[in-house]
Amino acid sequence: MDLILLGLPGAGKGTQAEYLVEEYNIPHISTGDIFRAATKNETPLGLEAKKYMDAGELVPDEVTNNIVKERLQEEDVKDGFLLDGYPRTLNQSEALRDNLQELGRELDAVIYLNVPKDILVERLAGRYICSNCGATYHKLNNPTKVEGVCDRCGGTDFYQREDDKPETVKKRIKVNEEQTDKLVDFYQEEGVLIEVDGNQDPEDTFAEIKELLKG
Ligand code: AP5
Ligand code: MG
Repeated sequence: MDLILLGLPGAGKGTQAEYLVEEYNIPHISTGDIFRAATKNETPLGLEAKKYMDAGELVPDEVTNNIVKERLQEEDVKDGFLLDGYPRTLNQSEALRDNLQELGRELDAVIYLNVPKDILVERLAGRYICSNCGATYHKLNNPTKVEGVCDRCGGTDFYQREDDKPETVKKRIKVNEEQTDKLVDFYQEEGVLIEVDGNQDPEDTFAEIKELLKG
């Protein structure tokens, strides 16, 4: 399956990605995760990307397109992939289309997680992430089963993302809103868009996605 997860910051892309990659056994490619890993390792890419991420802005298309292009040439994507947070602009969606054409493959679906804007801010303010395995939780909506212990790996160390400060969150949502609408139109025209109500429990959202993917 060649899939894309589309949605505003906090819509639940990372959360649904965890279910999807397990169900369909495909690699999870999150451009945000790639940039954060590069930032942590202080590579030139990371230092460049950090400027934009900390400001809640988008990393330039050219940089992002090249990273995904290279990633899609790796061995593990030959039977499918799940792109999370890419494409995010029309330029990126066109670059991806050309790229997939060159590789002779086609998207199976673009899953659009639709969530009202006022809920996003609250979701991001309460998010915390396992430092060991990256599993994502929420203080109220989606806490660990045992307080302070990661459900997935048993880790006990958690962190909040730098760009989840309220001011940066508002900027991120604003920056992404207009682009997301354009991408929804773009993929609707291509006939691959699946719109899902992302404002329900994560398990229910996933059940809806699975049902729609069956076609
Ligand atoms: P990225 O890391 O992709 O961030 P984002 O798009 O802002 O989205 P988030 O990861 O914040 O949210 P999410 O949708 O994954 O939600 P989550 O599942 O965690 O990008 C970061 C930055 O990198 C960008 O700002 C940009 O600078 C740069 N970048 C990345 N890609 C780029 C690109 N293509 N082009 C240019 N720049 C790029 O859930 C959020 C919270 O809600 C969690 O606490 C979770 O537990 C909770 N939650 C999830 N689902 C539910 C639910 N159904 N009900 C209740 N709570 C829920
Ligand atoms: Mg995410």
